[in-house]
Amino acid sequence: MTEQRTVHNPPSTSSPPRLAVEPMRVADIPEVLRIERASFPTPWSEVGYRRELTRNEFAHYFVLRLYPKRSRKRRGWPPLLTRQPGEIIGYTGYWLIADEAHITTLAVAPAWRRHGLGEWLLVHLLRDAIRRGASVATLEVRVSNRAAQRLYWKYHFERVGMRRRYYADGEDAILMTLTGLNSPEYRAFLAERRRALAEQLGQVFRLDEPQNEGQ
Ligand SMILES: CC(C)(COP(=O)(O)OP(=O)(O)OC[C@H]1O[C@@H](n2cnc3c(N)ncnc32)[C@H](O)[C@@H]1OP(=O)(O)O)[C@@H](O)C(=O)NCCC(=O)NCCS
Repeated sequence: MTEQRTVHNPPSTSSPPRLAVEPMRVADIPEVLRIERASFPTPWSEVGYRRELTRNEFAHYFVLRLYPKRSRKRRGWPPLLTRQPGEIIGYTGYWLIADEAHITTLAVAPAWRRHGLGEWLLVHLLRDAIRRGASVATLEVRVSNRAAQRLYWKYHFERVGMRRRYYADGEDAILMTLTGLNSPEYRAFLAERRRALAEQLGQVFRLDEPQNEGQ
């Protein structure tokens, strides 16, 4: 069937939604907390995030923000660009102490999981940590959290110990470590993962970073 067109009501064209990893700001905390509460049995508080962002000199936090399609309605001149604020769909953060990057959090909003976005955030975090001089990455993960453990295994983290009753609800944590973060081999691995993810995500989103950037 042919689309009906009139001079006064032409179809709109649009570009794909833009996906950006940006530094987390205090103003982002309410949106972050919505994902936090949907993701963790013992979520961090508003005060906790505020302290991380304003008082912790070792902390580096990022949000994954989705900017909606820009629709260009070709009525008149100049074209009308409808601008809406971006929505936060994930976040991550770490502390950099000497050469150790300690990953403190990573979450993707439930509706957006299993599309490579957790990986995209983790790759961004690891690259940022390498740029700032990290050679080791560490983290704790709940023993029951198989999804996150699989993600970390995929990025060559190894289980190095347990922390008994680490979480406020009494669950144990597995301590995982990744060494050789800044080795040429690991940097090449990360660059290749990033390239593959950019190709996959680039089919749906406009990515705000150069896709062929190496390590
Ligand atoms: C962990 C989490 C961030 C993963 O985000 P995501 O966007 O769904 O993950 P991705 O789509 O990028 O998946 C990357 C890899 O993670 C692993 N993974 C993610 N979800 C998984 C699941 N439900 N089951 C098994 N493996 C899973 C897989 O290894 C996957 O690689 P694959 O696609 O080649 O199998 C997300 O599940 C989440 O926010 N969970 C709640 C918060 C949390 O537990 N954070 C970790 C704290 S330590």
